[in-house]
Amino acid sequence: MNFKDKLLNLDRKIYYYDCLGSTNDQAKILAKEGAVDGSLVIAEMQNAGKGRMGRSFFSPAGSGIWMSLILKPQILPEKASMLTLVAALAVQETMMDFDIPSGIKWPNDIVVQGRKVTGILTEMSAEPNHVDYVILGVGINVNMKEFPEELEAVATSMAQVTGKEYDRSEIVKAFLMHFEKHYQTFIKEGNLNFLRETYNQHLIHRNKHIHVHEIRQSWEGISIGINAYGELIVRKDDQDVCLCSGEVSIRGVYGYME
Ligand code: BTN
Repeated sequence: MNFKDKLLNLDRKIYYYDCLGSTNDQAKILAKEGAVDGSLVIAEMQNAGKGRMGRSFFSPAGSGIWMSLILKPQILPEKASMLTLVAALAVQETMMDFDIPSGIKWPNDIVVQGRKVTGILTEMSAEPNHVDYVILGVGINVNMKEFPEELEAVATSMAQVTGKEYDRSEIVKAFLMHFEKHYQTFIKEGNLNFLRETYNQHLIHRNKHIHVHEIRQSWEGISIGINAYGELIVRKDDQDVCLCSGEVSIRGVYGYME
């Protein structure tokens, strides 16, 4: 069976496309049209894949997983950004299933040997007290043998790390299984206490010296780990500062990318 047929066999509403601009953008259209909670939009390639902070995301045909989950959780809008960390842990656990020696760079990059193997982009439509939908876009570099020159130093794929070729549908399946389990708990509990310790164990910069880049200033501290709300606690001059993911980026002193 090919990738498409294997996906369409999954026990979930799947919207499969050969080519899209961005699965996140298509997911928004489908969400507005009434797609059910948990629907998955997936494309063989994207020609306008979107990254965080207005960047583009390299999404060629046949070698990666470009997918967006449509979620309609009954949570307050300010809690939606926590879903990004839920997804990051699910991807990290998926990588472990396939023996990829990865770690999490807060809030949501999955990194192997100092290079990004997965990116996550969460977008939301909400009223002040109500979430219409959350789109959780996940891009996993699976079977690429090479990257464009400008990405070589910062991106990698599962195949580049291990020299193996992977069945992408097995990776999608594993991710959905891990995500679903944590998603249900998150909806019940309303915070990330239940996964905090596990997430922190996988942080590549736990207890390390990091640079924090905010809109108006940059500073340094020791990254301690996340709290129950997914904020990164950074120790600065003996005081703990909590960082929210939307406003800052962090950079390690050695070896891993922003
Ligand atoms: C980042 O690392 O900056 C986030 C990258 C997110 C990429 C995924 S690929 C599937 C989904 N559709 C998009 O346009 N972006 C996300």
